Amino acid sequence: MAPEETAEAESVLQSFERRFLAARTLRYFPWQSLEEKLRDSSGPELLLNILQKPSGDSVTLSESTAIVSHGTTGLVTWDAALYLAEWAIENPAAFAHRTVLELGSGAGLTGLAICKTCCPSTYVFSDCHSCVLEQLRGNILLNGLSLEPDTTDPERHPGHNAHDTESPRVTVAQLDWDVVTAPELAAFRPDVIIAADVLYCPETVISLVRVLQRLSACLKDQQAPEAYIAFTVRSPETCWLFTNELGQVGIPWEAVPHHNQKLFPYEEHSDMAILKLML
Ligand SMILES: C[S@@+](CC[C@H](N)C(=O)[O-])C[C@H]1O[C@@H](n2cnc3c(N)ncnc32)[C@H](O)[C@@H]1O
Repeated sequence: MAPEETAEAESVLQSFERRFLAARTLRYFPWQSLEEKLRDSSGPELLLNILQKPSGDSVTLSESTAIVSHGTTGLVTWDAALYLAEWAIENPAAFAHRTVLELGSGAGLTGLAICKTCCPSTYVFSDCHSCVLEQLRGNILLNGLSLEPDTTDPERHPGHNAHDTESPRVTVAQLDWDVVTAPELAAFRPDVIIAADVLYCPETVISLVRVLQRLSACLKDQQAPEAYIAFTVRSPETCWLFTNELGQVGIPWEAVPHHNQKLFPYEEHSDMAILKLML
């Protein structure tokens, strides 16, 4: 390609990439020219990587554009949510026909991906923040799932009725780790617990471990639930605190090996981890 052609190709591709990643509407765009540029595969690697993925079902989310808004970090999707969703999509058996309780669901990406690809019988999204819960309910409905009343209502908990449809029973619970009681946690009757990007300060680590300890007493068919906690390793001290606190309350854990397939556009170089806890 002549240098001026290369520059032109880059500008169309880069302009498309910027708008595509910002989820902007693209009513007017030189589509034909874009298609030609993409065909010669000299485009930005990230964009080509996304466009060449096999496209299956999609998850649609309404999110904030700010990392922190309304006093919470839960209105945007964090990288660990994407990383955990990728792992779940590769490992659906961990969730199939099981009751999943998610702690600190935020915008709901991980749970929606699990509901759409892993056949859980029941999925309980939870969070403590009222704006997050409102956005979460909206995102669930946006994805064509119907919402059932809060499963912590003892008359309605998941074990009571046989569920006769293909799609999971989905509920959203207001669950604050600092105030939730052991009987309230037991009412969820989870087989699997998940959480993404919830280890960001010592206080949250300690209250999360307290909740996990209480959940470890929630036996279902004589079995304690298992838990998968995903996080971006931002500070070794926070990770150490988490694993140390788990040790203190006698919860064994192991690191889940990194998965192969990268489906989502998150920061390539950040250090991600998933710990499997045997509660
Ligand atoms: C960094 S966001 C992660 C959200 C989502 N899991 C993700 O990865 O995109 C942390 C979430 O934990 C929730 N959270 C923080 N402290 C909590 C608590 N004490 N009880 C319940 N949820 C809490 C926040 O409301 C927020 O939604």
